[in-house]
Amino acid sequence: MSKTKTEILSLLMEGNYLSGAKLAEMLGVSRTAVWKNIQRLKEDGYSIEAVTNKGYRLVEASGRINESLLAGTVQESQLFDDLIYKNTIDSTQNHAFRILDRYDGNIVIVSGHQTSGRGRFKREWLSPAATGLYMSLVLRPNVTNQNMIVFNLFLSLAVSDAIREATGLESGIKWPNDIFINDKKVCGFLTEVISADNIVETIVCGIGININPSVETDALGTATSITDELDNEFDVNRFISVLFRKIEYYYDKFLHESFSEIKEDWLDQAIIFNRELTITTVREKLRGKALDITDEGYLIILDGDHNIHKVISADIEI
Ligand code: BTN
Repeated sequence: MSKTKTEILSLLMEGNYLSGAKLAEMLGVSRTAVWKNIQRLKEDGYSIEAVTNKGYRLVEASGRINESLLAGTVQESQLFDDLIYKNTIDSTQNHAFRILDRYDGNIVIVSGHQTSGRGRFKREWLSPAATGLYMSLVLRPNVTNQNMIVFNLFLSLAVSDAIREATGLESGIKWPNDIFINDKKVCGFLTEVISADNIVETIVCGIGININPSVETDALGTATSITDELDNEFDVNRFISVLFRKIEYYYDKFLHESFSEIKEDWLDQAIIFNRELTITTVREKLRGKALDITDEGYLIILDGDHNIHKVISADIEI
């Protein structure tokens, strides 16, 4: 897609009316160029209304991931060098591992349907078409394995912030890798790394977000979706652009700042405190309460026998 066309799309994606003159001024092009690119966008299938004295506005069907809008969002991002979009794929995570050697920079792989989505602890991640947003981020952080412990904390704040900003819903973070709304899971992520000599060369972080209700994912009654929780219309494409902005912001913080800088915000959104938890680690199963999280990312648990445990990774039931 041409640069001007993509830029016009990105500006219209914000949802406001923009006049031809305003767009021309913002992009440093002629009004004729704006008009021609608006016509091209219409030919591409975008529904753009033109209202006298107001300007142009993108009237976009909300539920479907729009590949061109996504391409515009990725092009605008300072973080990602390449986008791979697939209508259907086995798993964005598997695909990331298949192709990551062919690229040097950061890549994002996005799909609206996975046939073999996978979750943490080798669980299946149901990914029916038209119900979710499935993506894998391939990042080259060059940090130590120790630094990596807090990556999920930064990422969870990015996803939860994006849901809050785009929907107004009060999402919460369930340590370490889940986002909940009203005590039901709406998003999970799976972080895998390639590391050598104590340096993390590549992170492959797979994020699955339930956008629309699905018979399969709702079967257990423990999951929800964004549109399940919202009364009003939800625009997945606007959400994606907010999500990318948040990921870029918090990934930069992860690279340059310590967890203590965002700890207060993280704690504000955490939903694991002040309640009984069942914690399954690789070594044991505990019942207890979360007391705190350290600056290094360890969760401090007090069990029923008043023993303190420092947990780095676990499955938690709330
Ligand atoms: C979990 O909660 O267990 C983590 C789920 C991670 C699912 C995402 S969807 C995109 C990416 N591709 C996969 O196969 N898995 C991750």
